[in-house]
Amino acid sequence: MENKKIYLDHNATTQVDPRVLEVMLPYFTEVFGNAASIDHDFGYDAKRAVDKAREQIAKAINAQPEEIIFTSGATESDNIALFGVAEKYAHKGKHIITCVTEHKAVLDCCQRLEQQGFNITYLPVDEYGLISLEDLEAAITPQTILISIMAANNEIGTIAPLAGIGAIAKKYKILFHSDGAQAVGHIPIDVQKMNIDILSISGHKIYGPKGVGALYRRKSNPRALLAPVIYGGGHEKGLRSGTLNVPGIIGMGCAIELAIKEIKAHTKKYKELTDYIWTKLKEELPEVLLNGHPKERLPHNINVSIPSIESKALIVQLKNVAISAGSACTTTSVEPSHVIIALGFGEDRAHNAIRIGVGRFNSIADIKIALTEIVNAIKNLKSITA
Ligand SMILES: Cc1ncc(COP(=O)(O)O)c(C=O)c1O
Repeated sequence: MENKKIYLDHNATTQVDPRVLEVMLPYFTEVFGNAASIDHDFGYDAKRAVDKAREQIAKAINAQPEEIIFTSGATESDNIALFGVAEKYAHKGKHIITCVTEHKAVLDCCQRLEQQGFNITYLPVDEYGLISLEDLEAAITPQTILISIMAANNEIGTIAPLAGIGAIAKKYKILFHSDGAQAVGHIPIDVQKMNIDILSISGHKIYGPKGVGALYRRKSNPRALLAPVIYGGGHEKGLRSGTLNVPGIIGMGCAIELAIKEIKAHTKKYKELTDYIWTKLKEELPEVLLNGHPKERLPHNINVSIPSIESKALIVQLKNVAISAGSACTTTSVEPSHVIIALGFGEDRAHNAIRIGVGRFNSIADIKIALTEIVNAIKNLKSITA
């Protein structure tokens, strides 16, 4: 009999929760109307369901439904946020502040904006992956139009001081965008308390479907103006043209509602699992190093470096366990992770890093089996290189 495969890469993506799938299914076949073609019940029923999802998403982050725009995922939301603000506010200034450990969906937009004449400040991070609020405040100039700092890092799980960043943005009347792809549904995010003006959300990190996301943008006090990136039929208040992915949107709405409803129980479980992983690794391999913040981190993420063990070499040895070396979005690249490099410990620490992301459907028994395989593979590699 084949061994059970154990999936521990939940920062890359999650499986669709069966409860989410069940809610989505009728929207492929029965309620298949175009939510923008509402002269009949087919379209109207689809629109009603989309409206409900908009409410579910707004409620999850303490926003208003009309402040939510549907997109194809957090990548697109980040693009609309960065390029949209840049275009609308270029007359005020051409300076944007971000951080070195952002996802490529933000960093690549910033690089493109630099080619278009914008000035970007990339804030450094400390050994835990945190930016300093003093650095942020010092970087602000009269030309600064946007601060874009991710809510939680996809590789090392470090959670940014969101309320502190929001307070500074508000004080200087600068828009605050946060890439919330890893955070929304996993840790409490309140756009009012945190003064977040624009927030990117992804469906597939929270047991919803892939290819769907959302963008929150504050409608007043301050009103966050955005220019579209995609033009066409004027859907989503002209901000994101294109026929809505109705089943995907319904799925994301349901997924986010479930995630928020169950956040306490999942957090408790994830903490137990990641604490167990850390304790066990430390016991078996005392030289193991934790990447990211020991406390201010996503409950379902643990990222460690094992000195002298190449993570790519380790991962090919694992037959039944799925973990990742660095970010899944850049696995075609042989470059060491820009996030781990930014922590300041040198390239080896990055080459030796593995990311373990536990999930809703993992049991402690799964974790025990997976850890045995991981530890055995490490010991095996050590004996070869000794
Ligand atoms: C922090 C972060 N931003 C953006 C993305 C891209 O999200 P999506 O796959 O929904 O485009 C990811 C996914 O890997 C992510 O982790």
